[in-house]
Amino acid sequence: MTRVPFDGIAMGCDYNPEQWPRSVWREDVALMREAGVGFVTLGVFSWALLQPAPDRWDFGWFDEVVELLHEGGIAIDMATATASPPPWLTAAHPEMLPVDADGHTVWPGSRQSWCPSSPVFRSHALALAEQMAFRYGDHPAVRLWHVSNELGCHNGRCWCDVSAAAFRRWLADRYGSVEKLNDAWGTAFWSQRYGSFEQVLPPRRTGAVPNPTQSLDFARFSSDELLSYYCAERDVIRAHSDVPVTTNLMVTLHQDQQDNHRWARELDLVANDHYLDARLPEPRAELDFAADLTRGVARREPWLLMETATSAVNWQPVNVAKRPGELLLDALTHVARGADGIAFFQWLASRAGAEKFHSALVPHAGPDSARFREVAALGAALARLAPVAGAPVDARVALLFDWECWWACEAPSLPTGELRYTDAAHRWHAAFTALGLTVDVVHPSADLDRYAVVVVPTLYLCSDADAAGIAAAAARGAQVLVTYFSGITDADDHVRLGGYPGAFRDLLGVRAEEFAPLLPGHTVRLDDGSTADLWTEVLEATDAAVLARYVDGPVAGAPALTRRGSAWYVATRLDAGATAALASRVAAAAGIAAAAVPAGVTLTRRGRHAFVLNRGAGPARVDVHGTDLLTGAPFRGVVPAGSAAVVEEEG
Ligand code: GAL
Repeated sequence: MTRVPFDGIAMGCDYNPEQWPRSVWREDVALMREAGVGFVTLGVFSWALLQPAPDRWDFGWFDEVVELLHEGGIAIDMATATASPPPWLTAAHPEMLPVDADGHTVWPGSRQSWCPSSPVFRSHALALAEQMAFRYGDHPAVRLWHVSNELGCHNGRCWCDVSAAAFRRWLADRYGSVEKLNDAWGTAFWSQRYGSFEQVLPPRRTGAVPNPTQSLDFARFSSDELLSYYCAERDVIRAHSDVPVTTNLMVTLHQDQQDNHRWARELDLVANDHYLDARLPEPRAELDFAADLTRGVARREPWLLMETATSAVNWQPVNVAKRPGELLLDALTHVARGADGIAFFQWLASRAGAEKFHSALVPHAGPDSARFREVAALGAALARLAPVAGAPVDARVALLFDWECWWACEAPSLPTGELRYTDAAHRWHAAFTALGLTVDVVHPSADLDRYAVVVVPTLYLCSDADAAGIAAAAARGAQVLVTYFSGITDADDHVRLGGYPGAFRDLLGVRAEEFAPLLPGHTVRLDDGSTADLWTEVLEATDAAVLARYVDGPVAGAPALTRRGSAWYVATRLDAGATAALASRVAAAAGIAAAAVPAGVTLTRRGRHAFVLNRGAGPARVDVHGTDLLTGAPFRGVVPAGSAAVVEEEG
């Protein structure tokens, strides 16, 4: 992968000059310099103004902005401007609009109203991408290309007839014959057997539960379809420009999105968008997780945070503002976990439009504001972190995460509708992180040799090859912790017979004959004093030590927690204390005792740099020695509450 092409750890932002009169553009650039903005993402939603009519291009105003930025020494992440088609295009070609599973058209009037399989959209968008690449492909200010924007956000799946035909072509490629499709989809069930590919539809609204493998393949297809669109734009750009190409992924923002592990192979560098979600119980634990997952998607190479918010967003039920100090700590969380640049949506808070209450670098109040001063302080802080750029993050714990599994294990008609794929992943990630350990969140097929601990949370769908890789890690001596509802189905989402957890029965030395999920609000007690909820199963330890049993609930007396050598099985959702205790026990068995850090503090190492972030209530004492890059002075061992140190360690 290419290195992030901006200087040091740069601060950036989306810049949407078309929302403002020409007269402020020059001031914008001057103020950007004052804030420490090193690059801007330009042109994301500019299509309607760059091409006001099918046969009319207007690049004059855009050229002016590009030159102003260049003169100001601000680098450009150049969008291809294709994210949102202009009204003249959707009016002329309503057949390019997406259609939902009920057959309703998704109308223009917002953004991204285009079907990923539409040839009309594609030809117009590629023509625009070509204009952009031709005009700006070798402009010295352009350091990165930004294809479209958050591909899959709003229009990730489309059920129209054009998409149906594309889906059939994709299926014919995947299976070769309709017999193979019938086998993979298990169509003997409910009289679904197909006589030809022509009879196949995308999973539109059905009366009863749709075929799960059909739905899974449709998710795979939808991801591939957008990826092929990305590649088409990228290839157009490459014909005119040697500048690296990427797009902004959303690795944790939406479930019905792309398979980011697959996408990363086509990107010159990985860029991610992340927004804190106040609806989650622990939004900042999710921030840690998202950054570790982005690094996993980037195959441990440095990556770019392409979008986040300086304070509140506008799209949650309640849009929580950041408190003083949080902007710095949130940005440093990404840097500590591998980001080599931090960018925000957007430079000036909009006056009009759907996002007028989204925070920005310059709020409605203007630059004479606490928010702008905090932004400028962040710009200065990031500038001091240049020595960190390019450094790797070293993790001894891997947590396996797979979008295909996510799609499959939140389908209807599973043993419980209460289970969320990310739930176990978040809990176990947080538990190991709280121990002061760094966790790589990687695909199940990743090379696991470097890890002392491998966590396998709810890997419901698991291919034979991935199961073999996990067993090999245990055989090599890694501690492998598998949770409930793992190894249940194969890559076609067919149940592995002979007892659960099919793919991991031998590795774990356990066998379950039946699941016994718990009703919402029900908890069970274990004989080690802990409690659990959500899930239990009729489990037998065939070749494993039983570490804890249920004392009540539907399977009282059955094992809840087992261990066979270095393979651990946790057959239920443990309470927070028990989760923490088990994480600590597994880490101890792996011999990776972590540096003790006070509650609320995270210590992450990136190359020679220790990032100490103190979100706790009081000052934190940590045993780290060297120079604090943020102050330039020797680190005195204490980080005040709500503050951070980035210590270049000695020796
Ligand atoms: C992103 C999008 C931006 C802006 C932002 C607001 O999804 O790429 O254009 O809408 O969200 O949080």
